[in-house]
Amino acid sequence: MTPQPIAAVILAAGKGTRMKSRLPKVLHPIGGRAMLHHLLDTLDRLGMARQVLVVGAEGDRVAASVAERDVAVVRQEPQSGTAHAVAMALPTLADFAGDVLVVYGDTPLLRAETLGALVEARRADAAGIALLGFRPHDPGDYGRLVLDEAGRLARIVEARDANAAERAIGLCNSGVMVFDGVLLPRLIERIGNDNAKGEYYLTDAVAVAREMGRATVVVEASEDEVLGVNSRADLARAEAIFQRRMRAAAMASGVTLTAPDTVFFSYDTALDADVSVAPHVVFGPGVTVEGGARIGAFSHLEGATVKAGASVGPFARLRPGTVVGEDAKVGNFVEVKNAVLGTGAKASHLSYLGDAEIGAGANIGAGTITCNYDGFLKSRTEIGAGAFIGSNSALVAPVRIGAGAIVGAGSAIARDVPDDALALTRAPQVTRAGWAASFRARRAKAKAAKDKKE
Ligand code: UD1
Ligand code: CA
Repeated sequence: MTPQPIAAVILAAGKGTRMKSRLPKVLHPIGGRAMLHHLLDTLDRLGMARQVLVVGAEGDRVAASVAERDVAVVRQEPQSGTAHAVAMALPTLADFAGDVLVVYGDTPLLRAETLGALVEARRADAAGIALLGFRPHDPGDYGRLVLDEAGRLARIVEARDANAAERAIGLCNSGVMVFDGVLLPRLIERIGNDNAKGEYYLTDAVAVAREMGRATVVVEASEDEVLGVNSRADLARAEAIFQRRMRAAAMASGVTLTAPDTVFFSYDTALDADVSVAPHVVFGPGVTVEGGARIGAFSHLEGATVKAGASVGPFARLRPGTVVGEDAKVGNFVEVKNAVLGTGAKASHLSYLGDAEIGAGANIGAGTITCNYDGFLKSRTEIGAGAFIGSNSALVAPVRIGAGAIVGAGSAIARDVPDDALALTRAPQVTRAGWAASFRARRAKAKAAKDKKE
C-alpha cells in the first residue's frame, strides 16, 4: 500500500512586526539556520507530496531562500489573516485530495514524529481537522482551545477576542493543523473576519467544521516543540531549546560534554562518538569532529574538520576551510583559516595559519604567522612534511618550505626553501662581555649626582 500523500502549506507572509527587524522573521537563525529552513527540513523528513510557501509583498528574500528547494511560492497581499493566507495557497492545491498540513513559519522546533502522529490522528477518526494543542507555562497571546461538554474541541478563540473565562483556559493552539484536503476549501470560504483584528482567522475553521458536522481532534504536544517565535525574547527561548536538544543528542551518541550548558551547537554540527568537548566551546556551521579528538575550553570552530585523535585548544579559533589532521595539534591562541594540517602536525601556541598546507609531522613554532594577504590578494603557504618552523617566523606567501627544512627562529621568509635546507634571516648577533654591568654602574652614578643637586 502506498502511503497517502500529504501537502504542506507554510505561512510566512506576516510582517513579524514584534521582531523589530529588517530581516524577515522566518529568516532569523536558530543554531545557525533560518527558522523557516528548520521547518522545511522537518517536512522533508516526513515526506511531502507538495509544499506551498505563502509570503508577503516584501517576501522576495524569503522566496529567494527556497529557490533550491522543491517549494512553490505564492504571494499574499495584503496580509488579511491566516485563513486568507491559506486561501492564497488553494489554487496550487486545486487537484490535491490528500491531507493538507498547515504550519506557521514561526514555529521552527516541530519534530517530524509529532507531525506524523497528527496526520495519523486525523485519518484514524476521519476527522475534518486534527490540531496540535499544548499547555504553555504562560498562555499569553496564544489562541485558546474551547471544549464542549463532552470534552471535544468546539472552537478556538484568539486571546485578544477572549473573555476572562476563555483567557483562563490553559490548552492552547500551536497553529499546526491537518485538514481533510477536500474539506479545506469549503472551510476557508465560510470563514469571516468579525473579530478584534478584522482578519480572517484560520482558527475559525474549527467552529465551521463543527457546524458542517465534521469532527475535530486535538493532539497534545510539549511546549518546547510548538513555541511560536514572535519576538527576540521568543527567538532566544527557541535557541535555548534547540541547544538543549543538540547537547542531549550529542551525549546520547557518545560525546563527552564536561559542561553541556556552556557548549553551543549549529544545526549541522557532527561530532562522532568519543569526541570530548571541554567547557565554553562554540560550534559555528559546518563542523565535523572525528572520534577521539579533544576540543579544549573556549575554542571557536566554524567550517572545520577535526580528524581522529587531534587536539584543539584551549582558546583555539578554527575558521572555514580548516582541516586538522589525525593526531595533529592546534594549541592556545592559534587561528587557522583555509588551511590543512597533516597527520601529527603541530601548531601549539600563538599562530596565524591562513591559506596554507602543512605537511605531516611538521612543527610550527610559537608566534609563526603566514603572511597571506598583501592588501590586494591572498596567497598560499606550503610547508612540507617534517619541516620545523622556528618561533616568531613570518612566512611571506606565496612561499614553499620544503619537506624536512628548518626555518630559524625570528625569520621573515619570502623565498622558497628547498627540502632539508636551513633558512634564516637574522641580523648578526653582537656580544660585549661585562657591558651591562658597566652600563648600570655609569647610569647609577649619573642619577646620584643629579639627586644631590636637587
Ligand atoms: C497564531 C494563531 C494562534 C496560535 C499562534 C501559535 C491565528 C489567528 N492565530 O497567532 O491561535 O496560538 O499562532 O503560534 O491563526 N501569517 C500570514 N498571513 C497573515 C497573517 C499571518 O502568512 O495574514 C503567518 C505569519 O507569517 C506567521 C503565522 O501566519 O508565520 C502566524 O501569524 P502570527 O501573526 O504570528 O499569529 P499569532 O498571533 O502568533
Ligand atoms: Ca506567531
